[in-house]
Amino acid sequence: MKALVLSGGRGSRLRPLTFTLAKQLIPVANRPILGYVLDQVAEAGVKDVGVIIAPETGGYVKEYVKDGAHWGFNVTYILQEPLGLAHAVKTANEFLRKEDFVMCLGDNLQGQGIVSFVEKFEKEGLDALILLKEVDDPSKFGVAMLDEKGNIIKLVEKPKEPISNLAIVGTYLFSNKIHDAIERIKPSWRGELEITDAIQEMINLGYKVKAEILKTWWLDTGKKDDVLAANAKILDEYIKREIEGETVNSTVEGRVKIEKDAKIVNSTIRGPAVVGGSCQIENSFIGPYTSVGKNTKIKNSNIEYCVIMENAQIIDVDRIEESLIGRYAKVTKNNRKNTIRLHLGDYSEVEV
Ligand code: TTP
Repeated sequence: MKALVLSGGRGSRLRPLTFTLAKQLIPVANRPILGYVLDQVAEAGVKDVGVIIAPETGGYVKEYVKDGAHWGFNVTYILQEPLGLAHAVKTANEFLRKEDFVMCLGDNLQGQGIVSFVEKFEKEGLDALILLKEVDDPSKFGVAMLDEKGNIIKLVEKPKEPISNLAIVGTYLFSNKIHDAIERIKPSWRGELEITDAIQEMINLGYKVKAEILKTWWLDTGKKDDVLAANAKILDEYIKREIEGETVNSTVEGRVKIEKDAKIVNSTIRGPAVVGGSCQIENSFIGPYTSVGKNTKIKNSNIEYCVIMENAQIIDVDRIEESLIGRYAKVTKNNRKNTIRLHLGDYSEVEV
């Protein structure tokens, strides 16, 4: 069994962060999302890992994953123009060499690892196993319709009329039959070779395709609010109380991680939260579900349910909630009445 981890794509919904970072590297609980995905691949005992990268952001992914030794992988990088998930599989043909593989989206997180799904796929000798999860808004996802016995009847990518509430989760297992199916499909209306069309084609060809419903949570971190939700989930599941930095006249409540050389002065940190190394926090409240990247400075401000990346500065801001703030970004207060002054990157979003 090999693994194909998709870390290409455009990441257009997470601009401007994705102009200078691959979206799979956006941190949750101060660690790139991709790190959690690779942990799950390693846990399943897979060693040969192909990592799909895009021309614009591939360098950042390589810088993080390196040769994969951290996870015990042999890594092969595969450069792909973002033309769809099935196109990524097609591009990886030479790496996959007709072996079975697990395909994971580098920006999807799920509560349960992939071990039991790999076992089921192998035990039952399947050609495809897809994971499904009940969602509130199926129109945003690839969706599956099942019969009463749980067999897949039909798959549709982002249906306008909901055919079911079962979204296709970003973990797939395939035998080499997927390649026959991909050869037979055409790009969709959005110009992409869709993996849902390829799996539908496998069903049409009579291959053994099964679905399993994921019991735990699943998050697709395609947009800002999804990243914040993933951050909250990961903080909840992974963060233990661990205080390495210095606290002066401050209160640290609950499951809070304060990394080395951070200094917290006259402040309250309420968990679950993480404060990165060498941060300076002064006269501030860092509320639950917040991650602060290393070397960030926060003064006279209140922050809750946020991801603040490395080297940012937040000074004299009464309250920030539900925000995603990039590296070296500065948010400060001016003394002009009813005036905001902005210096924003392309595609930035501000709510005032
Ligand atoms: P998407 O989130 O569907 O696509 P995207 O990354 O292009 O984002 P946006 O819609 O905001 O522009 O991709 C899911 C995952 O698959 C993500 O980790 C990127 C990856 N991917 C590839 O590696 N190759 C591709 O051709 C596509 C479309 C996605």
